[in-house]
Amino acid sequence: MSILLAPSILSADFGNLNRDIEIVNRGDADSFHLDVMDGVFVPNISYGFPIIKAIARKAEKPMDAHLMIIDPDRYLSNFKDLGVKFLSVHYEACTHLHRTVQAIRSLEMKAGVALNPHTPVLLLEDIVRDLDFVLVMSVNPGFGGQSFIENSLEKIARLKELILKKNPNCLIEVDGGVNAENAGELARAGADILVAGNAVFGAPDPLEAMQVIKSAAYNI
Ligand code: DX5
Ligand code: ZN
Repeated sequence: MSILLAPSILSADFGNLNRDIEIVNRGDADSFHLDVMDGVFVPNISYGFPIIKAIARKAEKPMDAHLMIIDPDRYLSNFKDLGVKFLSVHYEACTHLHRTVQAIRSLEMKAGVALNPHTPVLLLEDIVRDLDFVLVMSVNPGFGGQSFIENSLEKIARLKELILKKNPNCLIEVDGGVNAENAGELARAGADILVAGNAVFGAPDPLEAMQVIKSAAYNI
């Protein structure tokens, strides 16, 4: 199965946002990964609705919003209205996760649950049937440009086993420290979607970087 690449706009140049959106539109990328941080759930604040609205006007590929916020239920319909197709909430931020997932699906978005590095995959046992994707954080959420946590590889393999047993249609998205060096191993472990921020926008040639990551993931 082919691997999808979701460049993270967090690492884009916000002074040249149109240019960087065009790079994703034209390049070997499959979606726009949008990191929304509230300064409470994670120790950083990123961007919110006005920026996503600006991205939505130019984006020619689906938007995938990763909510690193407490109480995401309050904002689900705002993301729908902005045209978001894939919406993930954090396991650690949702007391009534099943209700939140149902609400995302009733808005006709793909529902994902994100797991912090310390959160075991077995906690998804009773919700994985209801999910379209699981987002495995391979760094602690909050910042781009961090180093990949090696334990994530084994975690993805365990998640893949659970998914094959309970819901084979559920995709695995991996987020944090992804680059051309680990893309192949991640694909082999079971990843379907690779998020990459610094490895794309921090590269001298982001278009080339996307191609290199994609082909590294194919060559498994
Ligand atoms: C981190 C975000 C990531 C981040 C990835 O909290 O969820 O999406 O932008 O950036 P890199 O690829 O630079 O680790
Ligand atoms: Zn993210």
